[in-house]
Amino acid sequence: KRPVGAPDRSLARKVTKVGVIGAGLMASQFALLFLRRLEVPVLITDVDQARVDKGLAYIHEEIAKLEQKGRLDGDAANRLRALVHGTIDKAEYADCDFVIEAVFEETKVKQDVFAEIERIVSPEAILATNTSSLSVEEIGSVLAHPERLVGFHFFNPVAVMPLIEVVRTPQASEEALATAYAVAKDLRKNAIGSADAPGFIVNRLLAKVMGEAARAIDEGTPLMTVERAFAPLGLPMTPFQLIDLVGWKVAAHVQDTMVSHFPDRFHASANLHALADLPQAVEKDRSGRVTGWTKDAQKALSVGSSP
Ligand code: 3HC
Repeated sequence: KRPVGAPDRSLARKVTKVGVIGAGLMASQFALLFLRRLEVPVLITDVDQARVDKGLAYIHEEIAKLEQKGRLDGDAANRLRALVHGTIDKAEYADCDFVIEAVFEETKVKQDVFAEIERIVSPEAILATNTSSLSVEEIGSVLAHPERLVGFHFFNPVAVMPLIEVVRTPQASEEALATAYAVAKDLRKNAIGSADAPGFIVNRLLAKVMGEAARAIDEGTPLMTVERAFAPLGLPMTPFQLIDLVGWKVAAHVQDTMVSHFPDRFHASANLHALADLPQAVEKDRSGRVTGWTKDAQKALSVGSSP
């Protein structure tokens, strides 16, 4: 096996324009981070203009908040506003040197996106996926040049979580990896190298914790009791607060991936899916903050009624 660490930094390509594919919860957060830290043009697209506008609105709101807090002066805020552009026209990726996607978490969807993007970008452009747990190698198998694709996995909330997982496929070029590490450094994040294994490193650990919390519910323990049981562990969030933060559908998806690869090691919870399917889970997906709706969620479960 090849080592997963950082290659020679001198191989890193210069990034003068970033393309973000998708304008959802994660994509709009890291689009903002690229703007703030790299100060280069950032392009975002999505499948329709409404989604693009929602992502842009989030970015503009956050820039305004940073300005109000005094973390950006007026000139810097205006510079960032001028650097971000949203469209549904993918042809505009043509001059991006680093293109990262955070679209729907399904291999086929991501493959279609990259196959299309590869025809548009220059041969030197580096491609990255923010997938939480899918195989980066499989996503890149549709590319004419899979060596240019790396995993570049952010954590929620992107502005404060210090880590990025850089995922190395067997095909990944040293240039692609060096660029990914250099970009992570410019974003002021700690990059850790991961093999292209299901769940990489962090989600493998988290899926274990979340899976055991879900298993407790499946066994009949009320959801709020599980939450209270975790409090003495001193973690920044309880398991269901964390699931609420990352998004219930994302959490259920990560769990499915882990169960499908390691059925003997991870727990499949129907209750986790039931919760992910609640309308509240979808509505709150974008909040990015703990919403406290776990009490409502408890009522929707078939087991356990009071803490
Ligand atoms: N966006 C921007 N900034 C945010 C934010 C957000 N959504 N949420 C919190 N912050 C900032 C606050 O502004 C504050 O910054 P300041 O001190 O400079 O003003 C700082 O974070 C602390 O926030 P608070 O004081 O309001 O709240 P807490 O002290 O309770 O911290 C937390 C909030 C940082 C979210 C903390 O609870 C935490 O670390 N939780 C664990 C999060 C985690 O584990 N994330 C990984 C999830 S896994 C994942 O994303 C992978 C995916 O593939 C599933």
